[in-house]
Amino acid sequence: MEPRLQRRVQRYGWDKASVFYEDSWKEQLKPAQDMLLKLAGLNPGDRVLETACGTGLVTMRIAEKVGTNGRVVATDLSDSMIQIAAENIKEKNIDNVTFQRMDSENLEFDDEQFEATISSLGMMYVPDPVRSLKEKYRVLKPGGQTAVVIWGERKNCGWADIFPIVDKRVKTDVCPMFFQQGTGNALKFSLQEAGFKDLQIERFSATIYYPNDELAVMAAFAGGPVALAYQKFDEQTKMEAHQEYLDSISPYKNEKGYKIPGEFVAATAVK
Ligand SMILES: C[S@@+](CC[C@H](N)C(=O)[O-])C[C@H]1O[C@@H](n2cnc3c(N)ncnc32)[C@H](O)[C@@H]1O
Repeated sequence: MEPRLQRRVQRYGWDKASVFYEDSWKEQLKPAQDMLLKLAGLNPGDRVLETACGTGLVTMRIAEKVGTNGRVVATDLSDSMIQIAAENIKEKNIDNVTFQRMDSENLEFDDEQFEATISSLGMMYVPDPVRSLKEKYRVLKPGGQTAVVIWGERKNCGWADIFPIVDKRVKTDVCPMFFQQGTGNALKFSLQEAGFKDLQIERFSATIYYPNDELAVMAAFAGGPVALAYQKFDEQTKMEAHQEYLDSISPYKNEKGYKIPGEFVAATAVK
């Protein structure tokens, strides 16, 4: 898919998904976010750039770690995500965070501004991941650290059939790069190509739990990256796609709901 189109599909797709996002993914992504923050080792007083901040689930935790002498600049491609994140932060009376809508491939900052950059589950959507890592490298101070977590290999993510199920009902693949960086050593090579050193990489598994069909379907179709394509489906197409997806995750179903295997890769690296 042409990069400009890919960005538009993501931008407006996540606008649609934003209201469903936390009910779909808040609990499910916590293990990945925990690992990211554990590896990131942020310090009080740090100035941190977060890309793809979504509704601010990680933003709040970064804000707490860097404290009142620190600063978080949280960015995302989607206006609605930024709006929800800003409301969530305001509700919690956190005052060391500012938000800006921004593409992680084009960071609108001068060089060497930040002690750390963080990206939680955003790099799967970027047309040119190396470019986005090079941008992070550029805005980091020397010795600054980047921390990233992404989904792992397709074969280890039990929900992955959502992509072919949606793709075959639309004209172009909605998320063509999704598993690319999580496969093999791709993330390591991308970090090195962007100039980073002292890499630390962890591949780990986590179970994605949904108590019922309704929530599993909402998370996959309405709360994630295929949302833009999905909202254009007519009712019949939606029903068929839902059933096909539920069939694809049926191996992970028991009387308590779905326990779907997932894999993530987290990395830190230094400028
Ligand atoms: C799965 S959500 C992750 C949100 C949050 N970081 C978290 O861990 O809950 C993915 C986010 O990536 C954002 N995104 C997609 N492409 C992007 C890009 N090129 N630049 C910045 N953000 C992007 C989406 O708008 C969405 O908010």
